[in-house]
Amino acid sequence: MRLLVVVLIFLTAAVKADPHSFSNSDLVSHPHLHLDLTADFAKKQLSGFVELELEWHHPDTRELVLDSRDLTIGRVMGQTSEGSWQLLPYQLGAKQADHGQALIIACQQQYNKVRVYYQTSPNASGLQWLSAEQTTEKQQPFLFSQSQSIHARSWIPLQDTPERRLTFNARIHTPKSLLAVMGADNSANTERDGDYQFKMPQPIPAYLIALAVGDLQFKAMSDRTGVYAEAAWLDKAVAEFADTEQMMQVAGQLYGDYAWGRYDILVLPASFPFGGMENPRLSFITPTVIAGDKSLVSLIAHELAHSWSGNLVTNASWHELWLNEGFTNYVENRIMAAVFGEDRALLERQLAVQELQAELAALDPADTRLVTDYTGRDPDEAFTQVPYVKGMLLLQFLEQRFGREKFDAFLKHYFANFAFQSMNTERFLRYLRQTLLQQPDTVSFGEVLEWLNQPGLASTFVAPESDAFAQVDQQASQWQQSSDLSKLQTQDWSIHQWLHFIHQLSASVRPEQLAALDQKFGLSQSQNAEIASAWFKQAISRNYQQALPHIKTFLLKVGRRKFVVPLYQQLAAMPGGKAMALEIYQQARGGYHPLTQVAVERVLKL
Ligand code: BES
Ligand code: ZN
Repeated sequence: MRLLVVVLIFLTAAVKADPHSFSNSDLVSHPHLHLDLTADFAKKQLSGFVELELEWHHPDTRELVLDSRDLTIGRVMGQTSEGSWQLLPYQLGAKQADHGQALIIACQQQYNKVRVYYQTSPNASGLQWLSAEQTTEKQQPFLFSQSQSIHARSWIPLQDTPERRLTFNARIHTPKSLLAVMGADNSANTERDGDYQFKMPQPIPAYLIALAVGDLQFKAMSDRTGVYAEAAWLDKAVAEFADTEQMMQVAGQLYGDYAWGRYDILVLPASFPFGGMENPRLSFITPTVIAGDKSLVSLIAHELAHSWSGNLVTNASWHELWLNEGFTNYVENRIMAAVFGEDRALLERQLAVQELQAELAALDPADTRLVTDYTGRDPDEAFTQVPYVKGMLLLQFLEQRFGREKFDAFLKHYFANFAFQSMNTERFLRYLRQTLLQQPDTVSFGEVLEWLNQPGLASTFVAPESDAFAQVDQQASQWQQSSDLSKLQTQDWSIHQWLHFIHQLSASVRPEQLAALDQKFGLSQSQNAEIASAWFKQAISRNYQQALPHIKTFLLKVGRRKFVVPLYQQLAAMPGGKAMALEIYQQARGGYHPLTQVAVERVLKL
C-alpha cells in the first residue's frame, strides 16, 4: 500500500505545471495592467493598448514572453527607469492549434512597464460580436468576452496562466448609446457617454478578465446585488434571481465573508456558450436559466460559489479544473440546501450523478480521473462532468465521514488560508493530511487517492437516493408497461422530477409512447431549456421524428454549448441525419459563439 501511495503522488506531481501558456512568468510577471480599448462594431474589432507593470524575478532575464492568439500587433514599447519610452523589437512564435502563439519581446533592460498596441481579429476565440438582429431587443449590437480557459489571449496579449494573478484598470470606448461593464467596479449610476473607466483592485487570474458592451439596463435586487440585462429580460431576471442576496449570506456564513464587494448578474443573449461564467463581481449568465419558476437557479448558486472556489483559491493549471469546479459544485449544493431545502439539494445531486454516469460511459477511461493530463490538448476539453461531479462527490465523501461540522470548518479555513493563491492537487493533499486526516480511523489517504487517480467512480462512492425519484420510477414503469398515461400522476412533479423521468426513459420506449407523452405534456414545446434539451436527446435516440422541427427551432435560438453540441452529435448519428444536422448548422452557425462553432464542427467532423 505504501508503495502505491508513493507512485500515485508521483503521478500527480509529474504533470507539468501549466503547459497551456507560452509565458515565462517564473522569470518576469505583471501583477498589474492597464487596458485602453475601443470597440468597433462595424469591424468587429477591439483596438488600443495594454500596459503591463512588470516584476522581474531573475537578474539575467531580458525577455518578456506573453500569450497571444490571432492578434495584430502594432508596436511594443518599454519604459526605462528614467521614464522615457523606447520602441522594442518583438517576434511572434509559431502558431499552435488551440493555444495561439507566443509574443516574444526583447528587453535591453528590465523595464518597469511594457506597452503593446494591438487589434483583435473579428474571429477572436474569446469574443462574440452580435449584430442587433442577434440580440433579444434587436435594436443595438452586443459584444461579450469569454476568457476561460485560454481565450483572454485572443483579446489581450498577456501571461494567460492561472498560476499568476493581476489587478487592472481599464478604459473602454464604445458607441455612445451602449453601456460597457466589466468584472470590476461597475456602478448603476454610470453616465452613458461611450467612455467607461474600471478598476479591479483584487488580484485575479487572467481567465477572469471580462468585458461586455450592449444596450444594458440595470435593476438592483439588494444593496449589493443587481441585474444587468437587455430591457426584455430585466424584470424576469430580477424575479428569477431574487434569492441571490440570501445565497450570498448563506455562503458567507459557511465559508467566510464575500471578498469582492458587489455581486451583480449580467444576462447575455441566448448565444452565450455556457450556462454561466463566474467573472468576479459580475457573473455572466445564459437567459436559458430564466424558466419563470426558479427551477434552474442552482446555476446562480454555482457561479456565486466560485467567489470562494476558483476566484479566491484558483486551480494552478487546467489539469486541475476539479479544484475549481468540483469544489464549486459542492458549495453550490450547500447553498441550495440552505436556501431551498435539503430535499431539493438531494435531487440536484442525484441528477448530477446521472449525468456523470452517462458521461463516464462515453469517455476514454484516462479522462475519467480527477487529475487528468491535458498537455497538448485544448483545455476546454477538460470541461466534462468528471471535474464537476466526481470532484463534488469526493468532497461529499469527506463530509459524510468527518461530519458536516468538521468538514465545514476545514473548508472555511482552506479558503482563508489560500485566498488569492493558486492551488494544485498536491498542495491540497498536503493540507488535507495536515488537517482533517489527522483524525485517526476516519478516512485513509489511500481512499482519497483512489478518488483522485483512478478512473471511474471510487469504491467508497455512495449513490444519493431520494423518495421523490423512486416515486417517479414506479409510475414510469407502470406507464411503460401499460401505455396508460393516467399512471403518471404528474400534477405535483417538480422540474427535477420531470428531468429524472426523462432521463430514465428506457431504450424500450416506443416512438408512439413518446408521441403520446408529448401530446399530453407538450414536452417538445417546453419553455424550460433543461427539460427541452433532455427530451430532445431522448427523442432523437428513440427515433421520435415529430420532435425534429422543434429541435431545429431550439438549435436556431440557443447557443449554449452543453445543449447544442450533444444534439448535433446525435442528429448526425441518426440514419440519414447528417444532412439535416449540416443544414441546421449552416443556418445557425452565424449566431453561434466561436467556441460553440468549434465544438459543433468537432462533432460534425467539418
Ligand atoms: N467556469 C465555468 C464555465 C467554464 C468552464 C468555462 C470551463 C470555460 C471552461 C462555469 O462556472 C460553469 O461551470 N458553468 C456551467 C454551469 C454549472 C451550473 C455547471 C455551465 O456553463 O454549464
Ligand atoms: Zn463552474
